[in-house]
Amino acid sequence: MRVLSGIQPSGRLHIGNYFGAMRQHLQLQHDNESFYFIADYHALTSSPEPKQLKKYTLDVALDYLALGLEPEKTVFWRQSDVPLVAELAWILSCITPMGLLQRCVSYKDKVAQGITANHGLFAYPVLQAADILILNSELIPVGADQKQHIEVTRDIAIRFNNQYREILTVPKEHILESVAIVPGIDGRKMSKSYDNTIGIFESESQIKKKIMSIQTDSTPVDEPKDPDKCNIMALIKLVASADELGQWQEKYRKGGTGYGDVKKRLLQLVLEYFSPYRQKRLDLQSDLSYVENVLQEGAEKAGKVAFKTLSKVKKAVGLK
Ligand code: ADP
Ligand code: TRP
Repeated sequence: MRVLSGIQPSGRLHIGNYFGAMRQHLQLQHDNESFYFIADYHALTSSPEPKQLKKYTLDVALDYLALGLEPEKTVFWRQSDVPLVAELAWILSCITPMGLLQRCVSYKDKVAQGITANHGLFAYPVLQAADILILNSELIPVGADQKQHIEVTRDIAIRFNNQYREILTVPKEHILESVAIVPGIDGRKMSKSYDNTIGIFESESQIKKKIMSIQTDSTPVDEPKDPDKCNIMALIKLVASADELGQWQEKYRKGGTGYGDVKKRLLQLVLEYFSPYRQKRLDLQSDLSYVENVLQEGAEKAGKVAFKTLSKVKKAVGLK
């Protein structure tokens, strides 16, 4: 299967992103033809500061490579290095009904959050459709919040094929649900918009500070506790062995365990879990030309496929 997904460089990646999306992306690369890109055109829709956008884009590249993206298996590039996608987005815009975009929840949510609505934000799903369709992608691994955008993509592809010729592959979404929503240190969904994240590659002292401040209830040490209702346990679940997890659950139910001790263990486990990746990231950081090379080679491969699809599309619509 040809698998494709985009990651917005809109902030430092956190362990919610890792367990909720990146880990599955990295697994999928082994049995599929995978295409992953850094969606910097998309990130522009929230008007980032230019230096910040550049930095986050490099950070996403370093993070994915450090965490195990294999450039021999996966085509990995920066979206803006294949600008043909913006041309396809324009052509698709011209067959996309306004109503289809007006119904998009993610646009409405962002406006409700106070983000100034620009045309790019409104047209965001059309660019996403172009990302997917220009590479004839079949399977799109995304979080549930992106389901509607994949439906819009399918709708646009079907419209195009009906109106012109059967050129575009109609993709399927693959909702990443193998992991529950990862809670942040305040108990809400971990998200960069809530400032409650634990960054994958933050300094050890910052991670410590954050883990020690995870919110818990005020059950006294001696009393039994419900392991299924504890933010620390929800994170322990992601990084502990099944045996160890079972032991902590038992201790919770018995009583006599203080949250401070569980936090200390969680800190050790998180640091151990990401420690090999941390070293890899440092190595990559000292060889940025290698990273740039990977992205350039990826752009070249993606660009070739994109060129073929776009040429067919242009011909079909009468552009040449
Ligand atoms: P954020 O909420 O920090 O802005 P994004 O919306 O950019 O994160 O999410 C990128 C990917 O990471 C999506 O596929 C999303 O489903 C996944 N993801 C983000 N936060 C979590 C979380 N707390 N738990 C599980 N998955 C998450
Ligand atoms: N909108 C996606 C997100 O915020 C990122 C994205 C852009 C994407 N283009 C894509 C995801 C194409 C899958 C396919 O997470």
